Amino acid sequence: MNETINLRLESIIKKFPMREGSGEFTAVDNVSLAIQKGQFITLLGPSGCGKTTTLRLIAGFESPTSGKIFLSGKDITSQPPNQRDMTMVFQSYALFPHMSVYDNVSYGLKIKRLPNNDIQQKVRATLDLMGLGALANRRPNQLSGGQQQRVALARALVMEPEVLLFDEPLSNLDAKLRVQMRSEIHQLQRRLNITSVYVTHDQDEAMALSDQIVVMNAGKIEQIGEPEAIYRYPATRFVADFIGRANFYETVVEGLEDGHAVVKLFEQPFRIALQQVRFSPGERVTVMMRPEAIHLTNDPALKQVKIESAMYLGSEVEYTVRFDDRVWTVADTDPRAGRAFREGAVAGMTVVESALHLLKVT
Ligand SMILES: Nc1ncnc2c1ncn2[C@@H]1O[C@H](COP(=O)(O)OP(=O)(O)OP(=O)(O)O)[C@@H](O)[C@H]1O
Ligand SMILES: [Mg+2]
Repeated sequence: MNETINLRLESIIKKFPMREGSGEFTAVDNVSLAIQKGQFITLLGPSGCGKTTTLRLIAGFESPTSGKIFLSGKDITSQPPNQRDMTMVFQSYALFPHMSVYDNVSYGLKIKRLPNNDIQQKVRATLDLMGLGALANRRPNQLSGGQQQRVALARALVMEPEVLLFDEPLSNLDAKLRVQMRSEIHQLQRRLNITSVYVTHDQDEAMALSDQIVVMNAGKIEQIGEPEAIYRYPATRFVADFIGRANFYETVVEGLEDGHAVVKLFEQPFRIALQQVRFSPGERVTVMMRPEAIHLTNDPALKQVKIESAMYLGSEVEYTVRFDDRVWTVADTDPRAGRAFREGAVAGMTVVESALHLLKVT
């Protein structure tokens, strides 16, 4: 594996002047990141958390208030966008409506004044790669949304950039096409091994595509990690909530023993494996558990819960259960016929100890 760092952000701060008054708004707040060559990283977070601004800073469409950006070890902080070896794919596709697919894809190479033969060869190869060969003469308005997005991707790829940037490229597509294009982007990126920075607020998309996910909140990085680590061991309650569904239970650390904390959930002791974060005996903590780590049975000896709602979703049944004034989400991911609990029923609940995760109370 190539371990060289391709793109690096060092303590990037971006402030914008407020519309009203004289104050400033910090859109990106001390972000540092290192992206290795060929890695796919995703900036994930809610609306307004600074994802697009960070991407635009990388592209050079904005300059940072402070901090530095390096590409292959070279400081590019004050380089204009056209001198950075990067291309961006936008949510809106941003295709030229009056030009054919071929002309849209060849445009950037013409600007670069490449020889005509080279242009033809590169454009043909990229159109074929993207399955657009037969559509070369069409205009954007003669294409479906998915095809238009493929043209936008072809237009970025044909430039053979050092870094590919994506700003929510799939959010204008319907759900099914989005999943299909997501898998195409995934395969393509793996095949071409292009360093990629991808912005989305869709956690499934981030999980499916990324080597590393950067979870952002209010301009700051909450956590950087591989999809599985982010899902299983979120660093904060914000991350736990943002990535998928989560249930929480406030309790106290009863004791520590060989890398585990002992806590009580509804009067029963559980041992929870500790990750990076340290906890002390007596400390108030939040236990997180994912809905699929909770099981419902008919066992009357278990903690009894009331089924408030049951939603059949095909691959799972999602329950809302109530106990001790708490409401939790439970997922039965193996919903065999005739086994589902009905709304209003009472069930016994167990939690999978190895799936529990401890969070600091903030
Ligand atoms: N040119 C600008 N001038 C003033 N404020 C700006 C400017 N660009 C962005 N902002 C503000 O900075 C914050 C971050 O914006 P940004 O577009 O980066 O968010 P985002 O994470 O991409 O959100 P979304 O998911 O909605 O696209 C927002 O509060 C936004 O209003
Ligand atoms: Mg955005």
